[in-house]
Amino acid sequence: MSQYEKVIILDFGGQYAHLIASRIRREQVLAEIYNPDEVTPEELNKPEIKGIILSGGPQSVYEDGSPQCDLAIFKLGKPVLGICYGHQYLSQSLGGTVTPGKHGKEYGRAEVKIDENCPLFKDIPKESVFWMSHGDSVTKLGDGFSTCGSSENCPQAAVWDKDRNLYGIQFHPEVTHSKYGSQLLKNFLDICAVKGDWTIEQYLDDQADVLRKKIGDKNIILFVSGGVDSTVCFSFLSKIIGKDRVKGLFVDTGLLRHEEVEFVEREIRNIGADLTVLRESNTFLGNLEGKTDPEEKREIIGNTFLEVQRKYFSDNQIGDDTLLAQGTIYPDTIETGATKNSVKIKTHHNRVPEIQKLIDDGKVIEPIADLYKDEVRALGEALGLPKELVWRHPFPGPGLGVRILCSAEKIEKLSLAVTDYKYVQYRTLPLKSVGVQGDFRTYRNPAILETKERDLETLEKISTELINKSEIINRVLYPLSDNKFETCEVISCDLDPARVQRLQKADHIVSQVLLEMNLYSEIWQFPVVLAPISFDGKGIESVILRPIDSIDAMSATVGKLPWEFFETVTNKILSDTDISSVFLDITSKPPGTIEWE
Ligand code: XMP
Repeated sequence: MSQYEKVIILDFGGQYAHLIASRIRREQVLAEIYNPDEVTPEELNKPEIKGIILSGGPQSVYEDGSPQCDLAIFKLGKPVLGICYGHQYLSQSLGGTVTPGKHGKEYGRAEVKIDENCPLFKDIPKESVFWMSHGDSVTKLGDGFSTCGSSENCPQAAVWDKDRNLYGIQFHPEVTHSKYGSQLLKNFLDICAVKGDWTIEQYLDDQADVLRKKIGDKNIILFVSGGVDSTVCFSFLSKIIGKDRVKGLFVDTGLLRHEEVEFVEREIRNIGADLTVLRESNTFLGNLEGKTDPEEKREIIGNTFLEVQRKYFSDNQIGDDTLLAQGTIYPDTIETGATKNSVKIKTHHNRVPEIQKLIDDGKVIEPIADLYKDEVRALGEALGLPKELVWRHPFPGPGLGVRILCSAEKIEKLSLAVTDYKYVQYRTLPLKSVGVQGDFRTYRNPAILETKERDLETLEKISTELINKSEIINRVLYPLSDNKFETCEVISCDLDPARVQRLQKADHIVSQVLLEMNLYSEIWQFPVVLAPISFDGKGIESVILRPIDSIDAMSATVGKLPWEFFETVTNKILSDTDISSVFLDITSKPPGTIEWE
């Protein structure tokens, strides 16, 4: 592949480092990712390397042990674009200052005023929305730099050194919620004067060759879930080595949605897969009994998949002539903290340590592990898979297991104080969920908003602002049911079958109404979360609706469905299920993650 001109990304550990590569590939330019402390200026000085991007990262540039690169790289005369940590690192290395941001923290949407004279902003409006995720900020420019973009909280949101072709931006052009992000990356590629002669077909051909070598004459057993990733993986492998050498294993974990087992069996057999269904709900629910911690639950679910697979291999005397395959995609890897400088946001079920060891030993193959959901869908369409499968809403491997929040503690009657913020009021809930802020995992409380405002975009903006200002909140909920929130009860519970059924029922109502109102394809994913908190004085729990607008799961906003939908769903849930309150999660990603655990 070395005949292609390319752009190099130095991965400082950011959640989005690999996403930058994917965006560049979309422009038909080869992008390769290197570890900053391993690559030398000589390697980067090769003529086919046309530009260098410094990624974001979880650390602060002024911390001991933060990732570095050889500063001679900035003297090669190649265009450099620093993003987030990369921007701060570039500025600090060249004489500027980076300061912890007491007031400058921004997670999610930010309005940036730009200087049109800078070629990085060609064809981008003077005021544009870009996605931010940072705590630190550049407070003094590097030598030779001038400012070419600023937001309310970040005066040095974009900087450049015209003469040396060096650029730094605090925001993330690579996430799809940055409206002009791809234009900005295209502009940087123009600055690099790189030829766009690389294609996704070529990439897949290259991947097919790599996989054929890895698989040799072995057979494959692949965990399938009915979701787009594993189905595309099945189809891709069948195409490469032949259908008769690929077998699907579908595990009923007891954590699937209403009638999901039947649906998956039918659809996967329809595409011609040789499928075995293992009914293991007792094993999964048994292993999870008494467990309440999110990471522990995730790890148990991942390990139980392995336990079930081992038993199946041994019962069926499957030996070394068979490899295990998984439909892992890139967000699973990056969120588990599996690149050199990244941190763990959550352990995806196909990335628990035991599986990681098998991968390291070459015993597991993951054909689409470099791709994002939108690329997997493009591949699925190219492979001729039915639209219903390719465009199904994503569903996580651990299933409802990560949507049933548990609590080790029981609190009978907790008063929830109200806080004023501008024209809204909020109360902090005695509950926690996972979030991602500035490439770090957070595990913090949600707030319930009390306001008459009904415009979802405005609500989302308030939620972003509130979280940016707070040290304890990472999500904001809008109440859909008519409850009083002065006091709250927390129910002590684990993941028991009655709670699984309760959530299945509520989740089914949401799916049905989405279909009836013809809204299914308006939305990217729609988690429904069961929360052990009650406001009715009788200890009956609550659900949270989490409609998602996204493309690749790396950034997300609340799905802007009509209020009629929310009202219908709320009424049905309250009347047909054992649930006493319904909330709408209005948090973007970042600072929230899509799932709650
Ligand atoms: P988060 O919650 O990290 O989710 O914003 C991003 C996307 O990944 C899905 N997800 C998972 N998928 N195994 C999976 O196969 C997992 O352990 C897992 N955890 C989250 C989530 O549903 C969303 O689409």
